[in-house]
Amino acid sequence: MSGTPRRPPLPGVRQLSGLPGLALLLLALPLVAKADAQADAQAEAEADCPCEEPTLCRPIRHHPDHEVFVFDVGYKTWKYYDWSQITTVATFGKYDSELMCYAHSKGARVVLKGDVSVKDIIDPTFRASWIAQKLILARKQYMDGINIDIEQEVNCSSPEYDALTALVKETADAFHREIEGSQVTFDVAWSPKNIDGRCYNYTGIADACDFVFVMSYDEQSQVWSDCIAAANAPYIQTLTGYDDYISMGINPRKLVMGVPWYGYDYTCLKLSADDVCTIAKVPFRGAPCSDAAGHQVPYKVIMKQVNSSISGSQWNEDQQAPYYKYKDPAGRFHQVWYDNPRSIALKAAYVNQHGLRGIGMWNANSLDYSGHPVAKWQTEEMWKVLKPKLSQR
Ligand SMILES: *[C@@H]1O[C@H](CO)[C@@H](O)[C@H](O)[C@H]1NC(C)=O
Ligand SMILES: *[C@@H]1O[C@H](CO)[C@@H](O)[C@H](O)[C@H]1NC(C)=O
Ligand SMILES: *[C@@H]1O[C@H](CO)[C@@H](O)[C@H](O)[C@H]1NC(C)=O
Repeated sequence: MSGTPRRPPLPGVRQLSGLPGLALLLLALPLVAKADAQADAQAEAEADCPCEEPTLCRPIRHHPDHEVFVFDVGYKTWKYYDWSQITTVATFGKYDSELMCYAHSKGARVVLKGDVSVKDIIDPTFRASWIAQKLILARKQYMDGINIDIEQEVNCSSPEYDALTALVKETADAFHREIEGSQVTFDVAWSPKNIDGRCYNYTGIADACDFVFVMSYDEQSQVWSDCIAAANAPYIQTLTGYDDYISMGINPRKLVMGVPWYGYDYTCLKLSADDVCTIAKVPFRGAPCSDAAGHQVPYKVIMKQVNSSISGSQWNEDQQAPYYKYKDPAGRFHQVWYDNPRSIALKAAYVNQHGLRGIGMWNANSLDYSGHPVAKWQTEEMWKVLKPKLSQR
């Protein structure tokens, strides 16, 4: 590429030149040519950088004390996020070089999504080539690491169990070696107790990477008792998950709390006078019923619906969560369970009280960024509760 490469019309296409050479270096000479590879990569980054300011293509090296880890699923709503707080954006949508430049200008990391079949990673050669590919992609897109989101079933005494820990360790080692200051993280379920058949070596994985993102949501994915609608992330159940991670020996600084910015809409087969909503039996990984009976709704949609619902927002004391009911055009009752600033603030207090690394959410796009005055206020309130309350420490 020659001339003054700035803001190519098709982000990500321009940077393809020079890749085969870089790929060879990474694959064949990772140790010997380390210094050269880094210098070459740096020079290449500056030359092909899509940002206004070429230094914005450099990886972020600063390690914040408090993480605000944000998942972004695409589009342009990121322009309206609270960048005074964000430290990492995990990009699960289409790559957007404009987002990368902007995040870097705010000192925030941008990380890749990593997903791979656990059957495949038993083979060490496969793992090595998967990692090499991800490194090439991260370099090409000027990214600062990778968030590994597997979520697949793994049996405790299977070869996948150790292979997964090895994948995380090898990925972290490779990224840390090849991209200075890079971050490698792993997404874990709300509890270490083999949720959804995920028997992972949680201590080994947390040790191997920078930190784990605890997905404290979808906590009704396996319901073994009554098939009734319940909160996405009930207060006690959520915090018990963190207690369990910590008591198995994981340093709280290796844990980032993930909160939901979405809820579940359940159709009630029966709705009792005291708001017990019986739901269809939809089994999941061995459990007789699950939240798959409902569907996920972003906070912005919930906020548009709650005022016109039959009940308005109600508060469940046991689960410390809001919900409401409405009737659909076919005359069926629905119950919608969600999280709002009140329920999130209660859980977020644990971050400070127990010295967790930070907080984050699935996903940042879920709020209303239209700028309408009521929406603007609701959106600001959701971002605000992520801020650490230092006085509680
Ligand atoms: C785990 O074990 C169960 C029961 O033996 C089996 O049905 C399931 O397919 C296994 N899952 C994987 C991912 O190997
Ligand atoms: C978890 O992984 C670590 C690091 O590989 C290993 O030392 C440890 O024995 C593993 N734990 C279990 C329970 O397999
Ligand atoms: C819903 O009702 C609340 C409380 O009465 C009010 O503050 C809010 O503005 C309403 N939201 C919308 C979208 O009208």
